[in-house]
Amino acid sequence: MRGTRVTIIAGAAGALSACNAHQSTLAPFGADAADIRHLFLVMLAGAVVIAAGVALLMRHAVRAPEDRLTHHQGMRLVLWLGGVIPTVVLLGLLVWSLPYMKPRPLGPADLQIAIEGEQFWWRVTYRPPGAAAVESANEVRIPVGRTVAFRLTAADVVHSFWIPGLAGKMDMIPGRTNTLVVRADKAGRYRGQCAEFCGLSHALMALDVVAMEPAAFDAWLAAERRPATATGQGAALFAANGCNACHTIRRAGQAGAIGPDLTHFGSRQTLAAGILPMTTANVAGFIRHPEKTKPGVRMPAFPQLTHGEATAIARYLQGLQ
Ligand code: CUA
Repeated sequence: MRGTRVTIIAGAAGALSACNAHQSTLAPFGADAADIRHLFLVMLAGAVVIAAGVALLMRHAVRAPEDRLTHHQGMRLVLWLGGVIPTVVLLGLLVWSLPYMKPRPLGPADLQIAIEGEQFWWRVTYRPPGAAAVESANEVRIPVGRTVAFRLTAADVVHSFWIPGLAGKMDMIPGRTNTLVVRADKAGRYRGQCAEFCGLSHALMALDVVAMEPAAFDAWLAAERRPATATGQGAALFAANGCNACHTIRRAGQAGAIGPDLTHFGSRQTLAAGILPMTTANVAGFIRHPEKTKPGVRMPAFPQLTHGEATAIARYLQGLQ
């Protein structure tokens, strides 16, 4: 009875873990994640065969004395279910999975994207061949069908870059650059997550991933390269409160490099590294008390701003399309 309950709970947990198709290896949008899913399902099938054999053995072990097998029958059962079948299944899985050990040859990258993990956000720099680099934050856009090389580093502590639907995870280590080469097969909006404990808000370090058709991606990157144009009361408040000491908005005089680049902030769909929906109220609330959303965040609080002032800055930032 207890065993049945454990099986049901484990099965339900497994099924639920696949529910969020935006962040799931079981709903891949890239070839590497499709391989990982395939490996997982075949390994799971092998594990089920072996576990079923062990369950049968256990059932015989707890039989009432009058139902017990003879010594000879028992030994044969142990030999087959505990020895021959698991050995054949495990050897079969080993031989079958060996080709997956080799990295998939994707050829030279069409685009390099440098991603730096910081407590608790992602600095994203697009480095298209033959053109100037473009910096952004917390949202990664990639063209479908083109090979992309992520150049992964960390500014402070070890983070791990993981987009479950695209590829396996890779550590981001201070002082070292790791390269993850990927290719998306399907357009859509997905989600990634920091996969290495990096401090109080590790669990709140997510990122949006947008896979776009190549022509749409090129147009988007060209627009991203242009400086921001929004102005208004919020722009003056942004400067007066020294926000530009940390944040870049690519216009004259706004070149802080400590915090996320906000040049096209308004075009992103989430705030605070994939944590909050991009609404004016959320942005204003985050400006006044970022630590309430992200414990341990480096950005100082601005409680001295009135609700109206924070809202004006939020509206200005959202206007940066
Ligand atoms: Cu960054 Cu965990």
